[in-house]
Amino acid sequence: MNWQSFESNDALSTHAAALLLNAIRESPRIVLGLPTGRTPIGMYARVVGECAREYRCFSDVVTFNLDEYAGVPREHPGSYSTYMKRHLFDHVDIDPSNAHIPDGTAPDLDAECRRYENEIRSAGGLALTFLGLGHNGHIGFNEPGSPFDARTRVVELAPSTRAANAEFFPDGNVPAHAITMGIGTILESRAIVLLAAGAGKHEAIERLRSGVVDEFFPASALWKHPDVTVLTQA
Ligand code: GLP
Repeated sequence: MNWQSFESNDALSTHAAALLLNAIRESPRIVLGLPTGRTPIGMYARVVGECAREYRCFSDVVTFNLDEYAGVPREHPGSYSTYMKRHLFDHVDIDPSNAHIPDGTAPDLDAECRRYENEIRSAGGLALTFLGLGHNGHIGFNEPGSPFDARTRVVELAPSTRAANAEFFPDGNVPAHAITMGIGTILESRAIVLLAAGAGKHEAIERLRSGVVDEFFPASALWKHPDVTVLTQA
């Protein structure tokens, strides 16, 4: 695991954006795994700024988001679909049919999870996946106790995760379930970049750094992967 520490969130975001854009320049048809949350907002802002100056930045890129809330329509202001449009997709030249997010309103959610896995496989698998880190160590919505070989599936959100995301559901209807790529799905990405920063993350970051691999701390699964870069804030 390659750890890199930055003085500020700006510096971390600039570096993360450079990793993402360099990967696209090297491989314009790259398949990316993408996160949501507060941490990657600066990265997306920089990617959008750079792409405005570049011809055909995302035109052949394929993306798969890590997760989406169950039962929340795509157009809902709190959905990850809305998040991705607001922070990235509405501002770059991605082909909407190449931008994949699980459908949390599909009539059969288990079938939707299988369909999502198949789409990732048909696209050739994830080449580079960016992740955020939950306070309890979750990656995507893989809460503590998630098996390290889990695939895309429906999960129940931990009370602390629902509390952390309550502000995006001001009517009080914070979703209790979500669809998430499994840890097994994520670990098949050829390279992974974890953005580990933000208020209250110190404990989770130090627990990850300790190197103890434990299913009750999902991010520790990343120690089993040969190409992980962790970007933290000093
Ligand atoms: C959410 C997302 C995760 C994200 C995490 C951390 O629960 N499902 O993918 O990494 O929150 O979010 P933040 O960056 O806002 O701390």
